[in-house]
Amino acid sequence: MEVTILGIESSCDDTSAAVLRGGVMLSNVIASQAVHVKYGGVIPELASRAHQQNIVPVIDTALKEAGITADEIDAIAFTRGPGLLGSLLVGVSFAKGLSLAKNIPLVEVNHLQGHILSHFIDLPDQQLPHPSFPFLCLLVSGGHTQLVKVSSPLEFEIVGTTIDDAAGEAFDKCAKVMGLPYPGGPVIDRLAHEGNPDRFRFAKPSVDDFDYSFSGLKTSFLYFLRDQMQENDQFIEQNKADLCASLQKTIIDILLKKLIKASKSLGIKEIAIAGGVSANSGLREAIEAEGKRRGWNTYLPPLKFTTDNAAMIAVAGHYHYLNGEQSDLDVAPVARLEELLK
Ligand code: KG4
Ligand code: ZN
Repeated sequence: MEVTILGIESSCDDTSAAVLRGGVMLSNVIASQAVHVKYGGVIPELASRAHQQNIVPVIDTALKEAGITADEIDAIAFTRGPGLLGSLLVGVSFAKGLSLAKNIPLVEVNHLQGHILSHFIDLPDQQLPHPSFPFLCLLVSGGHTQLVKVSSPLEFEIVGTTIDDAAGEAFDKCAKVMGLPYPGGPVIDRLAHEGNPDRFRFAKPSVDDFDYSFSGLKTSFLYFLRDQMQENDQFIEQNKADLCASLQKTIIDILLKKLIKASKSLGIKEIAIAGGVSANSGLREAIEAEGKRRGWNTYLPPLKFTTDNAAMIAVAGHYHYLNGEQSDLDVAPVARLEELLK
């Protein structure tokens, strides 16, 4: 029998619910929260409140779109962490309530594992290529930047990680200093198309092994803009596209350098990317071009699965459930990855 999984995601500022049957996505509903835009970043207190308002209609819609009732769910997969505690609490509490009311097993999911396993979501009308194991995943989101060796749907090894900011944070913070709206990543991506990526050069970090660092880039960008604006207060306005293109190229170069190094050192040519920043058109093109040069099989997730969504949580839940893993009703959300991995 094919298992039916309800996935619930509420780790940051998107409330999402999805239904998967036998690994095939029947629905994936996402309510994004507009309330943060005017603050230029996610306000945790407002995020929790918006999740609270959205969660019931989002889950209701996901079940209706899938054409199922709650009684047909075999397991409820929910994001346990990492993320904002108040946001996570809403999804975890809802999952527990539904589990208790309908006697449905609970399966906790690591949000980052969800991003990686987004490559295994099947669509009713389209079979997306799955990476073969082991593969190397460049996981680039708003909160994390990691190189992960994936040996099976449930076996992961983080081989590299950022020692400070995430790639998405570098996009978002640099966008903010240029006065661009939040989240800055997609805006920089769009503006970069019209700019010259070789016009400006910014600091590239030197960190050990397969680790990353983005805080120096952010600082050098900030100081560069400050100096230029002292000479010409229209500098940002006049050079926006070139600034975006050059910044984006720098971030992509940093990401690729360690990916190439890890691929060589581990001898893995199955290369996937995942997470919000994997929506970046420049990064997608660069990975494909590099892949062609180096004989990689590259896997780029469909755009709708790059940013936060519950289908990826449901597919991770699917594998955990088939492996006999379930969570107790006293499970609590966890904000930090380190605590989650303990
Ligand atoms: O994975 P995600 O939705 O949330 C986290 O788990 O953090 O990632 C959000 C991040 C934000 O930093 C956003 O600016 C970035 O993904 N992002 C992009 C693009 N689309 C989203 N960054 C660069 N280019 C994009 N097209
Ligand atoms: Zn995410």
